[in-house]
Amino acid sequence: MKIFKPRLLPVVAVLFICYAFVDAEETNNQPNKKTFIIHMDKSTMPASYDDHLQWYDSSLKSVSQSANMLYTYNNVIHGYSVQLTVEEAKLLEEQPGILLVQEDVKYELHTTRSPEFLGLLNSNEFSPNSSTPSDVIIGVLDTGVWPELSSFDDKELGPVPSGWKGECEVGRTFKSSSCNRKLIGARFFSQGYEAAFGRIDETAESKSPRDDDGHGTHTATTAAGSTVVGASLFGYAAGTARGMARHGRVAAYKVCWLGGCVSSDILAGMEKAIEDGVNILSLSLGGSLSDYFRDTVAVGAFAATSKGIFVSCSAGNGGPNPGGLSNVAPWITTVGAGTMDRQFPSYITLGNGKKFTGASLYNGKPLGGSLMPLVYAGNVSSTSNGNLCMKGSLIPEKVKGKIVLCDRGLNPRAQKGLAVKNAGGLGMILSNTDTFGEELVADAHFIPTAAVGQTAGDEIKKYIFSEPDASATIAPGGTKLGVQPSPVIAAFSSRGPNPITPDILKPDLIAPGVNILAGWTGKVGPTGLPEDTRHVEFNIISGTSMSCPHVSGLAALVKAAHPEWSPAAVRSALMTTAYSRYKNGEKIQDLATGMPSTPFDYGAGHVDPVSALDPGLVYDATVEDYMDFLCAIRYSSSMIKIMTKQEYSCKADKKYTVADLNYPSFAVPLETASGPNGGSSAATVLKYTRTLTNVGNPATYKVSISQETKAVKILVQPEVLDFSTPNEKKTYTVMFTANSMPSGTTSFAHLEWSDGKHVVGSPIVFSWT
Ligand SMILES: *[C@@H]1O[C@H](CO)[C@@H](O)[C@H](O)[C@H]1NC(C)=O
Ligand SMILES: *[C@@H]1O[C@H](CO)[C@@H](O)[C@H](O)[C@H]1NC(C)=O
Repeated sequence: MKIFKPRLLPVVAVLFICYAFVDAEETNNQPNKKTFIIHMDKSTMPASYDDHLQWYDSSLKSVSQSANMLYTYNNVIHGYSVQLTVEEAKLLEEQPGILLVQEDVKYELHTTRSPEFLGLLNSNEFSPNSSTPSDVIIGVLDTGVWPELSSFDDKELGPVPSGWKGECEVGRTFKSSSCNRKLIGARFFSQGYEAAFGRIDETAESKSPRDDDGHGTHTATTAAGSTVVGASLFGYAAGTARGMARHGRVAAYKVCWLGGCVSSDILAGMEKAIEDGVNILSLSLGGSLSDYFRDTVAVGAFAATSKGIFVSCSAGNGGPNPGGLSNVAPWITTVGAGTMDRQFPSYITLGNGKKFTGASLYNGKPLGGSLMPLVYAGNVSSTSNGNLCMKGSLIPEKVKGKIVLCDRGLNPRAQKGLAVKNAGGLGMILSNTDTFGEELVADAHFIPTAAVGQTAGDEIKKYIFSEPDASATIAPGGTKLGVQPSPVIAAFSSRGPNPITPDILKPDLIAPGVNILAGWTGKVGPTGLPEDTRHVEFNIISGTSMSCPHVSGLAALVKAAHPEWSPAAVRSALMTTAYSRYKNGEKIQDLATGMPSTPFDYGAGHVDPVSALDPGLVYDATVEDYMDFLCAIRYSSSMIKIMTKQEYSCKADKKYTVADLNYPSFAVPLETASGPNGGSSAATVLKYTRTLTNVGNPATYKVSISQETKAVKILVQPEVLDFSTPNEKKTYTVMFTANSMPSGTTSFAHLEWSDGKHVVGSPIVFSWT
């Protein structure tokens, strides 16, 4: 496979990008062309061709003489990407040997105390001189890296793992010496992006693996950054920063640019990462939800998984409403976000004496203790959504010298503070609305700020509306540790049920994703706003983008301890040892509601890496199991060929069910009976089969079930599994006998196998529709 050298491509006009970086003379040479990904059925190549590329080319030339391929793919899919008119694409689709012609689509980024919070520091398993973790390579598909950071220091590392085939691609601002024994590879993929949006303007961003955004540096250093003593953002979160697999190696694949990421580049990045020899792939990005065979990340992840590469992806920031999940394919590990026990408090005192605690990372001059006038942005603005403190919406005469309460939503949080500052305001209270509940996200604001939850925000508004001379002051509170309860589910973290395959529970688990300290680009300030001229080596940001690389790095540690484990075994270890209750036995809370959360929010629970190293038993799965899954969801042979690049015929006489995929969790969709009164006398009976592999010592495991509903009877057979040899496999079945419940009802249960030392836990969710 060959990545073609960057060429000067004619470009198409861009509709939804708000800032232009397209050279005027070059635009619109091919106004009707779009990028398409062409999936080829290589098994049908006529014998007259020696080489599949020749065949692809002649098939392409039969519809367009002038078209040139952007990329060819051989690891992730069989095929290529190319710019064509819609008519040409339609013609091409009718040629022999074509499985699918698919339009390129846009993906978006799902925008350290975590080692201590995860119990990594006291664990002998991760001794600094244990050599194996340094052989694990984490490929990060993101916005690139800022290689000069101390987080990429390689002094604790030995030579680059043998067998590594990656490269350090250079550009105007990226030298081959930018890579080292920590950052062992760096590549960039811009052809799809440039085909869609025009040539990259190198004064705005570097056409190289260099990170001009910050997101990629943050995710890469979270997964595998080296230890940095004395790290902080403006003194906040001060301490020793390190990635999860601090001796792991990083290979950066820059597939996202300032205007976003496109699927043809993502696919090209995954193609190369597989070829280069990464062990883990970390993708903190997602597209709009589609069938697995149309979803670039799902297709690329399938290829990676078949090569033994563990793929970890962010679940998306679409919470708290259900349905915002991304990356739900069962061979992907889907990661949601929780908080840690660390906050950055900012204290509000109102004129009536009431006090509230918010959050902020403001580092400038504080307000001083005296009260000052407090106004609601909705009352002092000239526009209809003035409550949001949009740029230029506040009336200076009504804001000058005052603290302004702004509502969260729509524009960036730090930009709201800037709007207040530019109108002459002295401070900001940033209030959550419904969507964000009690979730406090701290930002490096430009003026003294306290971000408060919805309850406090509502109360402060009530005070402003009832008190003509409302006043307040804001005082900084530094960094507070030991905050309880923690973790809680981040309001933004995307939740189940799984919209594509409801019988696979997603997300799989949660990891820290709120107010995470990690490395940052030197190109933009901590808020990422153009007005922000500050430079920081570490930044604190939030998102499932941040939780995903935690799991990528922890998977590297598990993989280092057990190099022979499959991606499914690694995921199983992380999932079955995850916890969903606090030490006092109460369920993990949901920040959006303040109520106990459910497996739809956290999957198997919060990752517990120390336990994951010794899970006792694992639910393993092979590529064939995933192919059987594709049969179970009734994929046609050509859809299976797109996914797997193989001929795989589902057997007519075999009964395939999703229920039998050897997954470490159970999702049981049930039908509401439509009999008279909505009830039914006949119960539904469903049987799920699972196989456990012993990865510990010989032991006898007993099952136990806890459940909330009486509507379902759960029967496990057998109830005792006796493992006498290592790697022994034992199968059990779970029979669910369910009565009808009203549509929309959900209920939860928990299944555990224990030998007295290990607990191998699985969540069970029931949902009636
Ligand atoms: C790591 O190195 C230290 C100091 O060189 C040594 O005392 C310790 O035993 C080593 N630990 C392991 C697990 O090799
Ligand atoms: C301020 O805005 C609130 C909410 O929109 C409204 O109820 C209140 O009457 C306004 N107060 C003034 C003084 O305009």
